[in-house]
Amino acid sequence: MQSLNIQFNALRQSPTVAMADRILALKASGRKLIGLQVGDPDFGTPPAVLEVAAKAMQEGFTHYGPSKGYPELRQAAALKLERDNGVHAAYDPETELLVTHGGIHAYYLAMQSILNPGDEVLVPDPSWGTHANMATMLRANVIRVPAPAEDGFIPPLESWQKALTSKTRVIVLNYPSNPTGAYPTREYLEQLQSFAAKHHLWIVSDTVYENLYYGEKPTSAAAFEGAKERTILVNSLSKTYAMTGWRVGYLAAPQAVIDNALKAGQNSITCVAPFVQKAAAFALTDPAAQQATADMRAAYARRRDRVLRISHELESEKVLVTPPQGAFYFFLDVRPLKMTSLEICERILEEAGVGLVPGSGFGAQGEGFIRMTIAASDEEVEAGFRKIVEWAEKQ
Ligand SMILES: Cc1ncc(COP(=O)(O)O)c(C=O)c1O
Repeated sequence: MQSLNIQFNALRQSPTVAMADRILALKASGRKLIGLQVGDPDFGTPPAVLEVAAKAMQEGFTHYGPSKGYPELRQAAALKLERDNGVHAAYDPETELLVTHGGIHAYYLAMQSILNPGDEVLVPDPSWGTHANMATMLRANVIRVPAPAEDGFIPPLESWQKALTSKTRVIVLNYPSNPTGAYPTREYLEQLQSFAAKHHLWIVSDTVYENLYYGEKPTSAAAFEGAKERTILVNSLSKTYAMTGWRVGYLAAPQAVIDNALKAGQNSITCVAPFVQKAAAFALTDPAAQQATADMRAAYARRRDRVLRISHELESEKVLVTPPQGAFYFFLDVRPLKMTSLEICERILEEAGVGLVPGSGFGAQGEGFIRMTIAASDEEVEAGFRKIVEWAEKQ
């Protein structure tokens, strides 16, 4: 048999996708299930955004477009970074921004642009699987930095130091985090920036959940003096504007990174669909779209409160609940059950009919936890959470 790329042997299958496949199979066989496993907003894309896309299609924006992205979209993204994220230095839309095929592609282009084989990449544990997998695909070595529950799922600063070697090149951040919803303080990020500066490291910051927070607004990793030269911001419209299927995001980074990323994008996807880009530029700037985002955040906050209220009412000692600071997940602590998170998710699916994701899929520190999304209707979230607790209490 012909040879294959051996890097792929080291990749773990996404636990979310694996669970989604099982749920689809069960649903096809007629089972009624509550799916609390996906990270996809249950809201529609704001109607005005749909109209802009439809109009752009009718006007002929259905051919190849510029690989870098339309200037208006890059400008909208640059303005947004100043308006919403308080970046310390403005990004030049001409040289420091690139339109990408969603946040995942922005992350891929970033890592492709900076990594050489054998470089070490520091990735918190737990974290979204792609952060580690992508580095592995690019022949870098992933070093997991523990972010245990006891530290609020944020790696203690000394853990970064402990993981550092002469081969370390990149720190990967994702705040608010998938799967934990945690995000660090401004002071923490400032110290991490100093650490990165001292050791000449890149900080790649995946901020796709930036608009979903329930307390103080998260600080951008690029909000500090001098941070811009070592910080790469990954963002997308997927979660913020309920546009996961549109596949549009952007990368903000120093020009040398964008130059590489542009070459990588040109040679892989050519461009993001032009009518999608037109709609994205509108979404980033239109006041009604910002209001739609605020409304979605309020709905997630309402569901979050509902889960907390029920948890208080049920007083379970088997399912322990920490309020998420951001994103749309609860990372439920089921360590008292003394089973693996995979076994728990499989049994809850079979016996209680609720789809979840095992925490072990996000790294060793995620073992003993299960991820439950609140990106589902209020009724489904409530019914699903009650079923999880009921099931746990019977064990
Ligand atoms: C942390 C994180 N980053 C990026 C993505 C990908 O988002 P996009 O749809 O923008 O590619 C996801 C999707 O779930 C995610 O959880």
